[in-house]
Amino acid sequence: MSKKLYIKTWGCQMNVYDSKKMADVLAPLGYASTEEPADADLMILNTCHIREKATEKVFSDLGRLRNHKEAKADKGEKALIAVAGCVAQAEGSVIMDRANYVDMVFGPQTYHLLPEMIMKATGGKRVVNTDFPPESKFDNLPEASATQGASAFLSVQEGCDKFCTFCVVPYTRGAEFSRPAAQVLDEARKMVDQGAREITLLGQNVNAYHGAGADGATVDLASLIAELASINGLARIRYTTSHPNDMSDALLDAHGSIEKLMPFLHLPVQSGSDRILERMNRKHTAAHYVDIIARLKQKRPDIALSSDFIVGFPGETDDDHKATMELVRTIGFSSCYSFKYSPRPGTPGAAMGGMIPEHTKDARLQELQALLFAQQLSFNQTFTGKTVPVLFDRKGDRDGQLMGKSPWMQSVYVIAPQRLLGEITDVNIEKAFQNGMSGSIVTISADSTPSEKREAA
Ligand code: 5AD
Ligand code: SF4
Repeated sequence: MSKKLYIKTWGCQMNVYDSKKMADVLAPLGYASTEEPADADLMILNTCHIREKATEKVFSDLGRLRNHKEAKADKGEKALIAVAGCVAQAEGSVIMDRANYVDMVFGPQTYHLLPEMIMKATGGKRVVNTDFPPESKFDNLPEASATQGASAFLSVQEGCDKFCTFCVVPYTRGAEFSRPAAQVLDEARKMVDQGAREITLLGQNVNAYHGAGADGATVDLASLIAELASINGLARIRYTTSHPNDMSDALLDAHGSIEKLMPFLHLPVQSGSDRILERMNRKHTAAHYVDIIARLKQKRPDIALSSDFIVGFPGETDDDHKATMELVRTIGFSSCYSFKYSPRPGTPGAAMGGMIPEHTKDARLQELQALLFAQQLSFNQTFTGKTVPVLFDRKGDRDGQLMGKSPWMQSVYVIAPQRLLGEITDVNIEKAFQNGMSGSIVTISADSTPSEKREAA
């Protein structure tokens, strides 16, 4: 009899990727996915610890899962509850102590061990696995499954050695590790065979990628992208997330020379104040960041830029905040994420003096977001009346609507025939919003082929 698996995923794309991999690991054991926790024989919460209230959110969801487990038990059936991801890694024993109905707690490096852990838990043992095993989970996870569609994520690097003082990632994901290039290319080819037109390379510090190549050589991200670009049928390549200090010359060159590398870069800067950047242990200055962007624009003038910002880091003064606003004005971003600083237990930032009051953080965030949102809207507005190639990778919310991404990572909504799902098609942009654009499909005459299609063929 087939068993049902429910996974809820929080957080970054890495977690989304990991959840898919967990489903792939469990498929041979007879687990089919369900959206309904009440039906599930195994319920997994794949958690994120990067910002506020992560643990509390997990406990409130666990309460609901507990009800399902008890309802099943009343019918004489068994259900297992598991907590995975970064909260599990950071707070494994707390979860086990506080919630005696949780059967398994395991960190991001252990997903390939799921079958063993389930066997133990089914036998009535409570399982905690938050080790960083010496063998790589990547060597032991199954190949790509056909579930990802036209725009697929491919994890190439995991972990981080940078130790920014606000960040839990080095503690929850462990040391930097890069998958061997051949393994990555193999998985990419399979994804393309299964219909992927776009691949986004994932890693916490993806531009520090240094995978083993042939004959003991090391392959950097620029060379990996160049190799990926030679895969027929793959039209678009992206990568995320990067650190400014790993934007090598070779990678900047790649943005100028590799057509399939999309003109968009997410490069978190966090703050525009050198004093705060130093306290954050970012090991770069605002001027260094501006210089990278200037050099990047020389290679790829139309590149769109995105970033992450933290306001209210301990010790941040009004002048520091002004420096952040100034940096945003200097660069001009097409989209951004901005957050209030949230002390993460165990990180150096959490032990620093000069904590900023909540109302000051709120005011700074509001001011920063007003500027970022205005920049995003005006970036999108520059596209009205233009034609852009869009990769349609999902249905829109409205009937008959498709949604896709422009090369510059803007969401584009169009009423379009469903057969265009998975295709790159030219769209006339008619309206621009802060969060995206809408338009209509360019009708293709027999002798004209949209630019990106031609190049990808
Ligand atoms: N508080 C607020 N934001 C944080 N980020 C990471 N850690 C924290 C924290 N403790 C943000 C950073 C990072 C993004 C993924 O999350 O901006 O780039
Ligand atoms: Fe966290 Fe990124 Fe800094 Fe690594 S480089 S510690 S993942 S913010």
